[in-house]
Amino acid sequence: MTNNKRVFSGIQPTGELHLGNYVGALKNWVTMQDEYETIYCVVDLHAMTIPYEPDQLRASRIETAKMLLAVGIDPDRSLLYFQSDVPAHSELSWILSTLTGLGQLERMTHFKEKADRAGQNLGILAYPVLQAADILIHKVHAVPVGDDQAQHLELTRDVAERFNQRFGEVFPIPERITPEIGARVMSLTDPTSKMSKSDPSLKSRILLTDSADQILKKVKSAVTDTGTTVSYDREEKAGVSNLLELFSFFTGRSISDLAEEYADSGYGAFKIAVGEAIADGLSPISKRYHDLSDADVAELMSRNGATARERAEDEMVAVREAVGLS
Ligand code: TYM
Repeated sequence: MTNNKRVFSGIQPTGELHLGNYVGALKNWVTMQDEYETIYCVVDLHAMTIPYEPDQLRASRIETAKMLLAVGIDPDRSLLYFQSDVPAHSELSWILSTLTGLGQLERMTHFKEKADRAGQNLGILAYPVLQAADILIHKVHAVPVGDDQAQHLELTRDVAERFNQRFGEVFPIPERITPEIGARVMSLTDPTSKMSKSDPSLKSRILLTDSADQILKKVKSAVTDTGTTVSYDREEKAGVSNLLELFSFFTGRSISDLAEEYADSGYGAFKIAVGEAIADGLSPISKRYHDLSDADVAELMSRNGATARERAEDEMVAVREAVGLS
């Protein structure tokens, strides 16, 4: 049974989903279905802020939706749709942009990183405002995301408060939900930076569609420090600690328990055990992914787009009223 609270989250269709997405966010998306009314979105408009090919985006939207179903998003319990099917996201984004300071947007880590790499377009600067609109349009109470979205959630809360002060209480202030373990999964090739879709090295991340063999190979070649003892210390032993977190996530055992058991096993045996645990955890997901058909997923998304459009349109009535547009 769900309580009356609503949850929203989004993911960009910019490449194949990886372990960081799953551990940091998607696992919570799935479990929150038991308790909340859940709304999830493939944010295809956000994906256009970095250079892309239209055919690639077309394919990636469907692949991403398919993967969300494969990890366990249940279309009977969650509303899953494409952002671009719901014009209210863009309309609300415009309204919220009039309440957002340029300085705050320019200070966003995401803007600083992407603007350097992709050139400065207005979309990259306005990205967090559209994200705030995604969340606020559904009047949600909680947003399950990884650690890297903290700044964007802060901005969303600020903008919602500003809106409510100026125009009356329209939006609830949403909480950020991050997992206790794995809120920031690190790259396997550089454990000081997060695992990311945009890393050019495929060895840096485990894809949710990787075979057991590929997973084992990637974990075996994961960068660790020069020591020999398996212990948890995110500063001094970032690589080993990252693997311990993943090990704990997939086995349900505590980090201290695992560190004790593998303390003197050597990195080789430890990595094999971690790789096997990850491969076991991901194999049902990749099986379900391959069983789903693109055509069925496209049809579901189109139906859900219409439902989401109607619901968002209903919410926009109160927003337009509040700001003086009706
Ligand atoms: P995106 O597409 O980069 O990532 C989707 C989700 O995966 C999480 N994540 C990670 N968690 C832990 N460790 C990692 N290495 C890691 N990499 C990614 C992200 O935190 C995220 O929860 N801006 C968002 C998309 C978005 C959104 C929204 C999210 C647009 N509108 C509204 C929530 C609500 C993004 O780029 O996620």
